[in-house]
Amino acid sequence: MDLYEYQAKELFARHGVPVVPGHVVTNADDAIAAAESIGNTVVVKAQVKTGGRGKAGGVKLATTPQEARDRANDILGLDIKGHTVRKVLVTEAADIADEYYVSFLLDRTNRSFLAMASVEGGMEIEEVAVTKPEALAKISVDAIEGCTPEKAAEIVDAAKFPAEVRDQVISILQSLWQVLVKEDATLVEVNPLAKTPDDRVLALDGKVSLDDNAAYRISSYDDMVDNSETDPIELRAKEFDLNYVKLQGEVGIIGNGAGLVMSTLDVVAYAGEEFGGVKPANFLDIGGGASAQVMANGLDIVLGDPEVKAVFVNVFGGITACDAVANGIVQAVAMLAERGEPVTKPIVCRIDGNNAAEGRRILDESGIALIERVETMDDAARRVAQLAAGK
Ligand SMILES: Nc1ncnc2c1ncn2[C@@H]1O[C@H](COP(=O)(O)OP(=O)(O)OP(=O)(O)O)[C@@H](O)[C@H]1O
Ligand SMILES: [Mg+2]
Repeated sequence: MDLYEYQAKELFARHGVPVVPGHVVTNADDAIAAAESIGNTVVVKAQVKTGGRGKAGGVKLATTPQEARDRANDILGLDIKGHTVRKVLVTEAADIADEYYVSFLLDRTNRSFLAMASVEGGMEIEEVAVTKPEALAKISVDAIEGCTPEKAAEIVDAAKFPAEVRDQVISILQSLWQVLVKEDATLVEVNPLAKTPDDRVLALDGKVSLDDNAAYRISSYDDMVDNSETDPIELRAKEFDLNYVKLQGEVGIIGNGAGLVMSTLDVVAYAGEEFGGVKPANFLDIGGGASAQVMANGLDIVLGDPEVKAVFVNVFGGITACDAVANGIVQAVAMLAERGEPVTKPIVCRIDGNNAAEGRRILDESGIALIERVETMDDAARRVAQLAAGK
């Protein structure tokens, strides 16, 4: 889960990374009290989970509380790279003499962690990496040893931080490492890490991604979840504990096993070209068991997407035999009718594997007109694309 800047800075503060005080508000009038409590000139900053807020007009100075309200009013509701601004951070304005960049991230390729640092911060670090790679120091950090004082000094010296901030940045790097470890983050980034004219170093921006697999042991994880930008169907799928990702298309997909579902998306997209570019509407892996209940929940989710015109159930019977899956499909259709949400869209089924013959017999004899059984994956993809196209 990516955090908002204000959440990242709360974690920074908790682990001793210096930040400036700030308050989050959701309406412009509240920015007045926020600015008053800070007392100085403030910066009003859009809270959206994307970069480039400054360039998009989402970061504005305000010298009075009234001005803070006006700037909050300008920024709330802005669309920044497809994200609507619903919260702004009103935070103390810092005098900036210099802007640096520091980060720690999980380096999957090298099965390690990576520290990156540059004295050319403020701007997009991706650009620095391309146009001036020598200005971006990259130092590997061992997961067990962590960011020791020696390692922090190595990073600071590799990036050529000036002498007057050296000790502060060494200490900040160790605190940021604590954020990464203690909060189970996969990314901790500060851009800009600013130097003030009196040589103090402060984190003026913060980006943190938490490892969702560790959610159970991150004490404040649940409090930091914000579903206002999550797709409503994905939210419901999460309640059912289903692995669902919404896509832009017309064919609902249900399969068992992530690999099979991925290849189902491919064959449907390929088959759909013939029918004016019909595409898969989602990824949904119902996993191994695939009981009637799980199948009903899956159908419920997929059919709940108004874009879906037809559904493709692609199941390979392994430990769960095809007859159990077929019974699951038939019972799921009945279950949905009982819930008052009868199926009205065609369902193309391809089932193969363990006990396939019995599974097919069950589907064929179910008497459910909307279920159409097709022998092979390619033929089923073609048929479902055709149905979704209304042909
Ligand atoms: N508290 C602050 N005081 C003074 N200046 C600030 C403050 N916060 C941000 N700024 C200035 O605004 C710039 C952009 O802010 P920030 O880095 O938080 O947003 P961003 O989404 O990364 O924007 P961009 O990608 O456009 O730089 C910073 O580089 C800094 O110059
Ligand atoms: Mg930034």
